[in-house]
Amino acid sequence: MTSEPAQMPVRLGVVGLGRGFMLMIPTFTADPRVKLVAAAAPRAESRAAFEAEFGGRTYDDIVPLCADPEVEAVYIATPHQMHADHVCTALAAGKHVLVDKPIAISMADADRMVAAAEASSKHLIVGPSHSFDPPVEAAARLIESGEVGSLRMIQAFNYTDFLYRPRRPEELRTEEGGGILFSQAIHQIDVVRRLAGGLATRVTAMTGAWDPARPTEGAFSALIAFANGSFASLTYSGYAHFDSDVWMDNVGELGQRKDPAAYGKARRALQGLDAEAEAALKQTRTYGSGAGLIEAENNEHFGPVIALCDRADLRLTPAGLDVFGDIERRFVEVPFGPAPRGPVIDALVGAVREDRAPAQTGAWGRASLEICHAILESAASGQPVDLQRQCGIT
Ligand SMILES: NC(=O)c1ccc[n+]([C@@H]2O[C@H](COP(=O)([O-])OP(=O)(O)OC[C@H]3O[C@@H](n4cnc5c(N)ncnc54)[C@H](O)[C@@H]3O)[C@@H](O)[C@H]2O)c1
Repeated sequence: MTSEPAQMPVRLGVVGLGRGFMLMIPTFTADPRVKLVAAAAPRAESRAAFEAEFGGRTYDDIVPLCADPEVEAVYIATPHQMHADHVCTALAAGKHVLVDKPIAISMADADRMVAAAEASSKHLIVGPSHSFDPPVEAAARLIESGEVGSLRMIQAFNYTDFLYRPRRPEELRTEEGGGILFSQAIHQIDVVRRLAGGLATRVTAMTGAWDPARPTEGAFSALIAFANGSFASLTYSGYAHFDSDVWMDNVGELGQRKDPAAYGKARRALQGLDAEAEAALKQTRTYGSGAGLIEAENNEHFGPVIALCDRADLRLTPAGLDVFGDIERRFVEVPFGPAPRGPVIDALVGAVREDRAPAQTGAWGRASLEICHAILESAASGQPVDLQRQCGIT
């Protein structure tokens, strides 16, 4: 337990001032329980922007940031392949860590990170992922309460233009963590594990890599069995022409209102660009490049999710839970705000100030990563894959 008074804001250092960090800014700035005091980033323009906006100190490397005594906890938002080294560096320096999803690319790296967290007296949290979304949490609690009977089956579905958003080259190479598995499936896996209690046992899956110009997995379907007897079917397409947000009241993943006039925007923006120009386009959306923030008005979501229980079907929406019971239907409102991702700050503050681990620990993140690999393995072999590294809710 820390000696800091419980009401003091958690003093956070950020590593990686890119797109992931930008998506967290509204949450950080809206929540007085956290204060951004330092950042490490290689791009001078992002460091200058951070100093101007937050008044903190900046470094060009993680090591001096972790030696900064003011920093209590570190948010790591660097590319996937750097997570393992950055997390281990921060834990070794005695900092609590929030690492953006996925925990890592390889299971060996995830093992190393979980071991480093266990060997330290600090917490490792993997997030944000959409398992933190308030409607997911509300559904998980309703299921856990027993009020709607046993959970039997979950359907999670998402059609997006993910594969056509501007990318760094490695984001289109599966072995380097590219494609939809490590960046998108991981959200869906986290959501269904949160609802089903976490302990998956077996995965059967097929994947699609159908665009030779973007030669990585862009779609998958998977069937996941859980230790409690329930099962989940997950379908994701990053090739979408259809946008499943129309089934989410036209609210986007980040809680923003979707503009129907933006149809086809992602593919249009990529037309005629080579890899270098595409990476440059991604840079224009990053921190310090003048890009605007997403304005959320609703809870975040990750596509339509329906949880079938013995006495009710639960449909998760950005506004809450549509509960279809035996003889009546009701709506459980889940309020938004003041910014999205408040539960990520709850988790961070709980860990740093109260020594309380959230559901999404390092072991949790490793278990979700195991399912990403199992999906790839099952798709390649045509066989079900038994899981070995699952964990329940702590
Ligand atoms: N949870 C979400 O909604 C969400 C959304 C986007 C990205 N992310 C995650 O954020 C992570 C980064 O992805 P991104 O899209 O922001 O990529 P990005 O390329 O926009 O940002 C990565 C940043 O890391 C910086 N960086 C590179 N090497 C570094 C180093 N050694 N030390 C410090 N900074 C370094 C880069 O300069 C860049 O600004 C990924 O793991 C991704 O999964 C999460």
